[in-house]
Amino acid sequence: MKNPSEFLTFAIVIAKEAGKIQMEYFGKITAFKKKSTNIDLVTNADIESEKYIINQITRKYPNHSILAEESGDTFNESEYLWVIDPLDGTTNFTHNLPIFSVSIGLVKKNIGTVCAVVFNPSADKCFYAEYKKGSFLNNKPIKCTSNNTLSDSLLVTGFPYLHDIKYDLSFEIFKEFYDKTRGLRRLGSASLDLCFVAMGRFDGYYEFGLKPWDICAGSLIATEAGAKVTDWDNSKLPFDGSRIIATNGYIHSKMTDILSKEKYKKIFK
Ligand code: IPD
Ligand code: CA
Ligand code: CA
Repeated sequence: MKNPSEFLTFAIVIAKEAGKIQMEYFGKITAFKKKSTNIDLVTNADIESEKYIINQITRKYPNHSILAEESGDTFNESEYLWVIDPLDGTTNFTHNLPIFSVSIGLVKKNIGTVCAVVFNPSADKCFYAEYKKGSFLNNKPIKCTSNNTLSDSLLVTGFPYLHDIKYDLSFEIFKEFYDKTRGLRRLGSASLDLCFVAMGRFDGYYEFGLKPWDICAGSLIATEAGAKVTDWDNSKLPFDGSRIIATNGYIHSKMTDILSKEKYKKIFK
């Protein structure tokens, strides 16, 4: 990228350091705690990675606000907010499956996410983007696909930890896309799902019941690689992660036509 901002250069350095922390623990996890449900886990790697990232941000930008998965938020007067998932893909991590990342996004008031890094240390893949400056993977520009039919498309999705009525509907939606596309994958790391749309491995991604830190960085990386990223009814992407769809643009309305069907409307409540 030409002229990366000081923010991006800093975010890449700390994401890579946090990735080293993850790798020190990877393959050695013997204990973990449960959070919102029995299948929502947290390990020492999540905690140590987050501690490191927050310390670095607080030292360099003491007046910036921070929203981080494991320790909540610190809101200051600043127009900048760092949104952190210290380990996205904790279930994979706990099972020694190398699909996980560090995800760091920087949101600027009245603009949205302006800087984003998603680092997958096990594959040494560093995705990053800045607002209006494009998306990159290990210093090379990335672009999403140009498939324009669902039948030629490979999609990716995820399922929420909470198994309620919305969760049942998610399997109906899964079946509908499974019937209409080349296939649908569930990888277990929302940030990497978005980066894989950005680099053209998938033509589209959708999910609901996420949190801001799952999608903040990945959604900018996808958008800057040419993806369209919105709510399920094609309106503006909700910051809270309640719903997201990211596609190459060509199959977007074909997917939102399905996701916004009346019978799936409970997911909007
Ligand atoms: C999870 C992953 C997963 C998604 C879950 C998220 P975590 O994040 O992104 O792909 O389906 O809803 O909570 O808990 O591993 O940070
Ligand atoms: Ca996450
Ligand atoms: Ca996490």
